[in-house]
Amino acid sequence: MKDCVSVLGSLNYDFLVKQKRMPTLGETYVGDKLIELCGGKGANQAAQCGRLGLETFMIGKVGDDIYGTKMINELKKSNVDTKYIKKGSDPCGMGIVHIMPDGEYYSTILRGANFELSFSDINAAEDIIRRSKIMIFQLETPIEIIEYTMSLARKYDCYIILNAAPATEITKKMYEFIDCLIVNESEASFYTENNVQSIQEAQEASHYLYNLINGLTIVTLGKKGSVAYDGHRDYFTPAIEVNSVDSTGAGDAYTSALVYSLYQDWDIEKSMAFATKVSSITVTKDGGQNSFPFLEEV
Ligand code: RIB
Repeated sequence: MKDCVSVLGSLNYDFLVKQKRMPTLGETYVGDKLIELCGGKGANQAAQCGRLGLETFMIGKVGDDIYGTKMINELKKSNVDTKYIKKGSDPCGMGIVHIMPDGEYYSTILRGANFELSFSDINAAEDIIRRSKIMIFQLETPIEIIEYTMSLARKYDCYIILNAAPATEITKKMYEFIDCLIVNESEASFYTENNVQSIQEAQEASHYLYNLINGLTIVTLGKKGSVAYDGHRDYFTPAIEVNSVDSTGAGDAYTSALVYSLYQDWDIEKSMAFATKVSSITVTKDGGQNSFPFLEEV
């Protein structure tokens, strides 16, 4: 019985600094405000799935510290089952995110306990992988663990989504496992080795990436919208104009809203429209997973 989704990924404790601009080299710059929040691409995506009402399991690792406990508790508030989140010996993963006045950001992460995930942690979650209709991955955990988990997900016939962020080399086997690939413009540039900024360039990138995975490929372009290619036709969904204050996690919200839509077997156009709507709500509020909407709000 396929009746849930699971996420293999990172949990990072985020420090968001709101500031007018980035400092130049050697300059000390005075920021405006510090916000501490629970983040990490994996946890954010699990939180958004939980908030949209999907039965969601998170597989990951945190440090045995106050941040780890806080992040697990926050996920529970978003209806995520956290029993497959283990505690490691390294400190928690961290995110240092600089938010500019237009909501755009510069982000640096510290891997921490996310990189202690082991094969035995994955084997311990095998039952839930078997039950998952869709399994979601990003690239903030060790590649060999992701590849191994994808092979289990394939064995149990899960639909495999990779949000290939942050851009990192992935293995040939992983390309074979992926059913749906989601990247933003900077990740698309990395994987295609071409500058991707315009809608036209994103459409070309989606064709290139489709040929690597032979599955649905989506390229998000922030305020310009998103494009997709499924081997038959191109799709484009414009962004919704909103007053953007912080785009942290907008890509995570988009990915999970897409997961929600595919879980309901909606078509690609309807799924992209829903994902666009959900991510547009998140950018109107400060923070990542705490700014993600529940289904009623959407
Ligand atoms: O996608 C946003 C997330 O990326 C942040 O929460 C940060 O922790 C990094 O993982």
